[in-house]
Amino acid sequence: MNVLILGSGGREHALAWKVAQSPLCQKLFIAPGNPGTATLGTNLPIAVSDFPAIRTACTEHQIRLVLVGPEDPLVNGLTDFLEAADELPGLLVIGPSQQGAQLEGSKAFAKSFMIRHGIPTAAYREFTSENFDAGLHYLSDHPLPIVLKADGLAAGKGVVIATDHAQAIRTFTEMIREAKFGAAGSKVVIEQFLQGIEMSVFVLTNGEEYLLLPAAKDYKRIGEGDTGLNTGGMGAVSPVPFATPGLMRTIEEEIVRPTIRGLKQENIRYRGFVFIGLMVDGNRPYVIEYNCRMGDPETEVVMPRLRSDLLELLIATGKGELNRKNLETDPRAAATVVAVSGGYPESYHKGFPITGTEEVDPDCLLFHMGTGSQNGQLVTQGGRVLSLTAFGDTIAGAVARAQSEQAKIHYEGKYLRRDIGHEFPEL
Ligand code: AMP
Ligand code: GLY
Repeated sequence: MNVLILGSGGREHALAWKVAQSPLCQKLFIAPGNPGTATLGTNLPIAVSDFPAIRTACTEHQIRLVLVGPEDPLVNGLTDFLEAADELPGLLVIGPSQQGAQLEGSKAFAKSFMIRHGIPTAAYREFTSENFDAGLHYLSDHPLPIVLKADGLAAGKGVVIATDHAQAIRTFTEMIREAKFGAAGSKVVIEQFLQGIEMSVFVLTNGEEYLLLPAAKDYKRIGEGDTGLNTGGMGAVSPVPFATPGLMRTIEEEIVRPTIRGLKQENIRYRGFVFIGLMVDGNRPYVIEYNCRMGDPETEVVMPRLRSDLLELLIATGKGELNRKNLETDPRAAATVVAVSGGYPESYHKGFPITGTEEVDPDCLLFHMGTGSQNGQLVTQGGRVLSLTAFGDTIAGAVARAQSEQAKIHYEGKYLRRDIGHEFPEL
């Protein structure tokens, strides 16, 4: 069948790399894609926000399955839009309905969903301009640190962890009164700070059955030792050594199953990925957030560790036949190290020539995140530029390999973290 993948980052490159290996894939299209995806299929110059153009491309290229990479189109209802198109009967869209995407699109929705279904998460309250004064009062009595979250999508920047009350009150005021996060911050979730160590689990579901993909851990801060500003993610490792079979059972029983059951009970159509960000305190897992898509750069370690045919699993998901499928994973560890533009996540320059990519060892994987092509020359075109994935018998081994291969690539201002996987030196 012909497949269309939507998006243009490392996640979409990794998904395209995996889908392209399937004997079930005839023609692969990526919109808008990047120079990496162009080596695997045909890039279409269509923005992920241009729903009518996506619908037209599905007709024109006889697409049978659309895999939606990023959250924005899902939160804006792309799945419902394509499924309602008379000219696209039987089209399989992998990505939840607009209502399902609210798990990511609204922190308040996600929190109340978790409470309704008894899913462990931090205690919280929500506030708007209507109960602003009650919010100020609540904050001044709240133990520190305090977590403030803009309700809507804020490109990963809507979470502030305040370490004193003055900062909490300033942030709260900026979010609600000064619209610092635009409409996303007109409602604010204030929640208890959770202690522990973070990890992510990835679920592929048709809204009834599900498969658990390999778990991963990402590194969000720009600086080594997990310091400095938050980024989209500077690297990732999989598996997660502390995710023992016992902990995974608890996660499945207390979080994954109630989530899928809850979606079904509430008649929320969900055919796609659920990416669950967890805080694990001892052996107790709590949900920090839901995402309605795969993670980036987590996909760059999860897909390489998947031995099963991804397209076959996606077709089963789209058709509601996931119960017949099992998952095979590669026992080796995988690590990805992300190279970014100097200055990221604040301002940075683009357009620097990239050299050395052809020297990367063929048993490693180079995924394009923010690259472009200028007169045939590969150049930097985003904050996060290239994600290099390597395998190893241990996480430390995979990270060392990914780093030494990353070192072969050059561009002006290149920066990367050298401590991805630092908690697991022996594993
Ligand atoms: P989110 O955008 O919800 O993933 O939040 C961004 C980051 O903030 C998370 O990856 C955590 O590191 C941190 N965070 C969010 N909520 C909490 C919480 N309740 N307690 C502690 N840390 C949190
Ligand atoms: N790496 C975190 C995310 O994709 O949201």
